[in-house]
Amino acid sequence: MQNSQDHLKEIESLLEFYRSAGVDCFLGDEPVDWAAASVRQAAHRHQAVSHARPSHKAGGSAQSQASEDVAAASTPRQQPAAPSQQPAQSHQPASAQAAVVPDREMIASARDLAASAASLADLKACLETFEGCNLKLTAKTLVFGDGNPEARLMLVGEAPGREEDLQGKPFVGRSGQLLDRMLTAIGLDREAAYIANVVPWRPPGNRTPTPQETEICKPFIKRQIELVNPDVLVFLGAASAKNLLGVQDGIRKMRGRWMNYTLADREIAAVATYHPAYLLRSPLEKRLSWRDFLSIRSRLAGQ
Ligand code: URA
Repeated sequence: MQNSQDHLKEIESLLEFYRSAGVDCFLGDEPVDWAAASVRQAAHRHQAVSHARPSHKAGGSAQSQASEDVAAASTPRQQPAAPSQQPAQSHQPASAQAAVVPDREMIASARDLAASAASLADLKACLETFEGCNLKLTAKTLVFGDGNPEARLMLVGEAPGREEDLQGKPFVGRSGQLLDRMLTAIGLDREAAYIANVVPWRPPGNRTPTPQETEICKPFIKRQIELVNPDVLVFLGAASAKNLLGVQDGIRKMRGRWMNYTLADREIAAVATYHPAYLLRSPLEKRLSWRDFLSIRSRLAGQ
């Protein structure tokens, strides 16, 4: 018969197995009436949409003239709220929190909300109150941005991971440490760069953000780029480049190729390179990344 020490060890290793597999939420003991929650959510959505629409639009915003991108092309039906088994975050009462699938109206209101932000601080405050993205239900923190907002170089990743979620800063885990070393190699550091993600909340278990989650967050990262207004924009991995540049090529084809990111009144030199998480798995590709980083350094020196 097993003694209690063995039992404890088994439970610990089972928990460790769950943790490393990305399980990060628990089933509660109390039953939840999700039908009632979905009614509350509908009321909450209505309120969020009417609050999100500012009475006037900020001028010159790229997203106000942005092509009606993927989001507008598809008009997902509003779905009944799905159960979230995560304990509610503190910024909203649990009763108001249930998952939603953003529809056109919500995406339009996200655009208006983002466009109304006159500064990065405003934009961060908007995101803190924004309830249109389900990822907020399971994330611990908003991972807004890090580094120097005055920097000439801005790097954009896909979505925060576990460490980023805990610390509230982008690229602080293993891939972030590699990114720091890559920046150091071209004579830069976080004070010489500003870093953000397309999606500012961690997807549970580090899964890929869904197209709906990306779509609802896109107006905010676009506004963040406008407000930082860098000279050089670097997309870390294919996902951010595809989402923000609209290119369809894979990362192997697009990396290292200079493109333009279009704002209302100017173009920003933009390039995609391998995501540092990919480089951790495929270290041989670092030689190509090194080329990209040398090219980024030349761009910065030449402008
Ligand atoms: N990967 C990303 O794309 N962003 C982060 O912030 C961390 C890991």
